[in-house]
Amino acid sequence: MARVVFTEADIARRVAELGEEIGGHYRDGELLVLGILKSSFIFVADLVRKIPRPHEIDFLIAASYGDASTSSGKVELLYDGETALEGKHVLLVEDIVDSGNTLNRIGRLLRKRNPKTVEACTLLHKHVAAELELVPRFVGFDAPPEFLVGYGLDYAEDFRHLPYIASIED
Ligand code: IMP
Ligand code: MG
Repeated sequence: MARVVFTEADIARRVAELGEEIGGHYRDGELLVLGILKSSFIFVADLVRKIPRPHEIDFLIAASYGDASTSSGKVELLYDGETALEGKHVLLVEDIVDSGNTLNRIGRLLRKRNPKTVEACTLLHKHVAAELELVPRFVGFDAPPEFLVGYGLDYAEDFRHLPYIASIED
């Protein structure tokens, strides 16, 4: 069965620290927090309340996994946010970086829209990506190379609602 990897309290503590780090990093300019749906929705909701400076919030929908627990290597953009990126600091928010395909592909796409900067924040980083073009500047936790669920992360659309993060491998 599932093994808890990060408790609800671990996550709350780290998300509050990340919000402070992000607030300290972006001293001036307009900030847009761009969440990658669906899996980042809980993280984004908690994180933005801990970023102590004004910012806009929008989302993209990217899909790369289907119902399998291994990466298909393809990333599809199913929904594109409507907020203009030009001249803004764009902070992409991911739940977990695994192969890095999602961040690479979305980072490339967003840079064409003339933002002032593009950085990424991920709650979890597996550190297994072969080539990361967009290295996340803000990382919540280094994650084990296992399949994790909860706090927005799913396995075939299940387990997103868990308030903690668990491994479904033995
Ligand atoms: P990528 O392989 O870095 O492109 O990861 C793409 C997406 O796959 C992430 O945003 C997650 O939504 C999902 N993903 C990767 N690893 C896991 C995992 O361990 N559990 C649940 N979803 C995952
Ligand atoms: Mg997912």
